[in-house]
Amino acid sequence: MTNEKVEQLRVLKEEIKMGGGQKRIDKQHAQGKKTARERINDLLDEGSFVELDAFVEHRCMNFGMEKKKAPGEGVVTGYGTVDGRLVYVFAQDFTVIGGSLGEMHAAKICKVQEMAMKVGAPIVGINDSGGARIQEGVDALYGYGNIFYNNTIASGVVPQISVIMGPCAGGAVYSPALTDFIFTVDQTSNMFITGPAVVKTVTGEDVTKEELGGAMTHNKVSGVAHFISNNEDECIESIRSLLSFLPSNNLEDAPMFETNDDINRFSEKLNDIIPSNASRPYDVKQIITELADGGQFYEVQPYYALNITTGFIRINGKSIGVIANQPKVLAGCIDINTSDKAARFIRTCDSFNIPLLTLVDTPGFLPGVGQEHGGIIRHGAKMLYAYSEATVPKVTVILRKAYGGAYIAMCSKHLKADMVFAWPSAEIAVMGPEGAANIIFKKDIEGSDDPLNTRAEKIAEYRDTVANPYIAASRGYVDDVIEPMTTRQRLASAFDMLSTKRETRPSKKHGNMPL
Ligand code: HXC
Repeated sequence: MTNEKVEQLRVLKEEIKMGGGQKRIDKQHAQGKKTARERINDLLDEGSFVELDAFVEHRCMNFGMEKKKAPGEGVVTGYGTVDGRLVYVFAQDFTVIGGSLGEMHAAKICKVQEMAMKVGAPIVGINDSGGARIQEGVDALYGYGNIFYNNTIASGVVPQISVIMGPCAGGAVYSPALTDFIFTVDQTSNMFITGPAVVKTVTGEDVTKEELGGAMTHNKVSGVAHFISNNEDECIESIRSLLSFLPSNNLEDAPMFETNDDINRFSEKLNDIIPSNASRPYDVKQIITELADGGQFYEVQPYYALNITTGFIRINGKSIGVIANQPKVLAGCIDINTSDKAARFIRTCDSFNIPLLTLVDTPGFLPGVGQEHGGIIRHGAKMLYAYSEATVPKVTVILRKAYGGAYIAMCSKHLKADMVFAWPSAEIAVMGPEGAANIIFKKDIEGSDDPLNTRAEKIAEYRDTVANPYIAASRGYVDDVIEPMTTRQRLASAFDMLSTKRETRPSKKHGNMPL
């Protein structure tokens, strides 16, 4: 016979599990959204979820709230495992007062944030909320402030992942913005400081929710988000993949994975991948996948600032962060958004002991009034800063163009790359042969009977004399000029050799990165 008190506990727990009730759960499902508990169960290994604070209640006595029950306080929190590794989670429950955040809802989130930091495990936060609980006033703001503070303190200590699976409006957006990665789901995620109605009142602009702060907007236009999925299942799969590339905290290395892909595998395709005409584009992702174990590339921000490609691969089972100019888009030049995207990714990898592989093929920083007035100097400096500051193993391969400031910025020897390889197709110089010939051979070209031909000859002369890898190699700025097909083997050996690298910096409170 069941003890009466145990029976009462079971009933209470069942009630809490039902959140805002079947009607609201059905509404959630009808919108293509899962409930907070369903999402957590999908994310974590089966049966591993341990819930905390299910009995927490709000203390608000205003506007009828004293009579209102909020099972779970509108957020489900706890811990479990992903691929056997400990992960903390919180998931806002839209079925309970719209997942709105009050003082006690925030306290539940803060508790798991603080446990994640103490224990050294990643935290995944699933956002689906109407924002600050309006009835609670400043108590709700106090709650948000505490979460933002914890996000900042946890930054660089444990990986923080935000998932937007519904509305995330007003100041609420700043918690995800302070975390390392933001996942979104097409058509259901919304992030904005103020919604379309306020925008219309203040600026007169007519804009839909989707255009203003939908998933694609933040993946493609604003660069706020890192990933977009077609539905929640794909999103959860993607989060689990990302976690496999990350260590649990800043004192650990990312997990190693067994690979059947031979590290001595030569890739003949790489010998022919660079077009003989230096101004012809190619897709740098073909190179990345050739180098990676099993051709697997987990791209980060695949819709934003496409002239640079960032993401994770494994080489010999070890997680590596890749930053590669993409000659297919704007010739792979570096502009404002590229600099922000790359600098952020470099710092994320460095925070979590993930070695950096930089693939260089860039004609330089993008010229233009828009770029100058937008602060390309300030933004470009972020890349220089991030690479210089990074102490993880840094390996660079110069594939083709490496000109001027961009040569330096793309993790050159001068920013303390540990190993710089160049392919024979590399062109390392102050500027491109065309521009250089126009300046230093101006008189020869203008005084010639056949200026076009003379110019072509001078360009070829400049390219043959200066724009090659051998001058840099003769100075030791390039450690070796390698056959492209051997690159995977050379990288595996370099990262293996560097695996015990230790580099210290002068002690300081913190640097003053250009922002
Ligand atoms: C209290 C809220 C709420 C909120 C929703 N609800 N948001 N209760 N505070 N912020 C309640 C609703 O009253 C409703 O209760 C239930 O949640 C479901 O909401 P619906 O409106 O029925 O859902 P839906 O039609 O899907 O619309 C979702 C929504 C809308 C677009 C999110 O609810 C909405 O606009 N909410 C307010 C958004 C907002 O302005 N938030 C404050 C932002 S300012 P019942 O009982 O009827 O089911 C902010 C400042 C933070 O967040 C600053 C931090 C620094």
